[in-house]
Amino acid sequence: MTLKPMTTEELTTPATSLFDLTGRRALVTGASRGIGRAIAVAFARHGAQVLGVARSEQGLAETGELAGDASGSFDFMSVDLRSAEGIDACVAQAAASMGGLDILVNNAADDHESTIEDTDPAVWDRVVDLNLRSCWLMTRAASAYLKDGGGKVINIASILGLVGIRNDSAYVAAKHGLIGVTRAVALEWARAGVQVNAIAPGFAQTAMLPDLTTNDDAANYIRRQVPMGRWAQPDEFTGAAVFLASRASDYMTGHVLVVDGGLTAR
Ligand SMILES: NC(=O)c1ccc[n+]([C@@H]2O[C@H](COP(=O)([O-])OP(=O)(O)OC[C@H]3O[C@@H](n4cnc5c(N)ncnc54)[C@H](OP(=O)(O)O)[C@@H]3O)[C@@H](O)[C@H]2O)c1
Repeated sequence: MTLKPMTTEELTTPATSLFDLTGRRALVTGASRGIGRAIAVAFARHGAQVLGVARSEQGLAETGELAGDASGSFDFMSVDLRSAEGIDACVAQAAASMGGLDILVNNAADDHESTIEDTDPAVWDRVVDLNLRSCWLMTRAASAYLKDGGGKVINIASILGLVGIRNDSAYVAAKHGLIGVTRAVALEWARAGVQVNAIAPGFAQTAMLPDLTTNDDAANYIRRQVPMGRWAQPDEFTGAAVFLASRASDYMTGHVLVVDGGLTAR
C-alpha cells in the first residue's frame, strides 16, 4: 500500500510533527548497545513502538530502561542474527507482537581487523554473514509487512561502504555490499511505497572501536583525519535515523546519508 504524498500543510508543519513516529512499529537490530541502542531510544522518544533485537538480554533490558520515559515503547527479543531461521522467526514474531511492521533498521554488525593474508575464510564468512547476509534476509522476511503500510528500511552501513581502508577487507566488502543491496531493493520497492536508504557513519565511540579509549595513537589518528577533529557519539546518528524513518524523507530512496564529521568530503 502506497501512502498518499503529504500535503503542503503537512510538509510545512513544525518539525515535531514532521518527524513524529507515533503509531509506527519499528524493528531495530543490534539494539543492546552503541548506535542501535541510541536509535531505538530515539525512535521510542519520537513515539514509535520499538522492538529491539540482539543477543544480550541484559544489554537490551538496559536499552529499555533508557527508553523508560518515552512516549512510545521499547520491547526486546534475544536473537542471533547469524541464524536464517532465527531471522524469519524474529520478523514474524515482531510483526505479530506489534500488529505489523513499518520500519526496519539493519544495524547489527561485527568487525574483524586483519590483513587479507591473516584473515581465515571462516572469519570472512562470519563477518559477511552478519553484516550483509542477515540484513538481506531481514529485509526479505519483512517485505510483506513493510509493503502493507508505507514502510522504511534503514541500513546502517559505514563510510567503509564507500571507501576502502587497510586490514579490514571482509568488513569493507560487506559494507559496500550493503550499500548495493540498499540501492537495488530501493529500486525494486520504489512503487510499492517502501523507501530503502542507508546511513554511512564515520568513526564513533562504541564497543566496535574500543581503541579510541585505550590507544592514544588510534585516537590521535582520528583527531587528525576527521575534519571536525573528533569522533562521534552514538546519539549523533539518531537525527539521520529519525529523518529516514519519518515521513520527512518520503521522497528519498536508494540514498546513502553520510554522517562522518566531513571525513569523506575531501
Ligand atoms: N562504531 C563505529 O565507528 C562505526 C562506524 C561506521 C559504521 N558503524 C556501524 O554501525 C552499526 C552499529 O555499530 P556499533 O558501533 O554500535 O557497534 P557495537 O557497539 O559493537 O554494537 C553492535 C550491535 O550488534 C549486535 N550484534 C552483534 N552480533 C550479533 C548477532 N550475531 N546477532 C544479533 N545481534 C548482534 C550487538 O549485540 P549483542 O552482542 O548483544 O548481540 C550490538 O547490539 C554497525 O552496523 C557498524 O558497522 C559503526
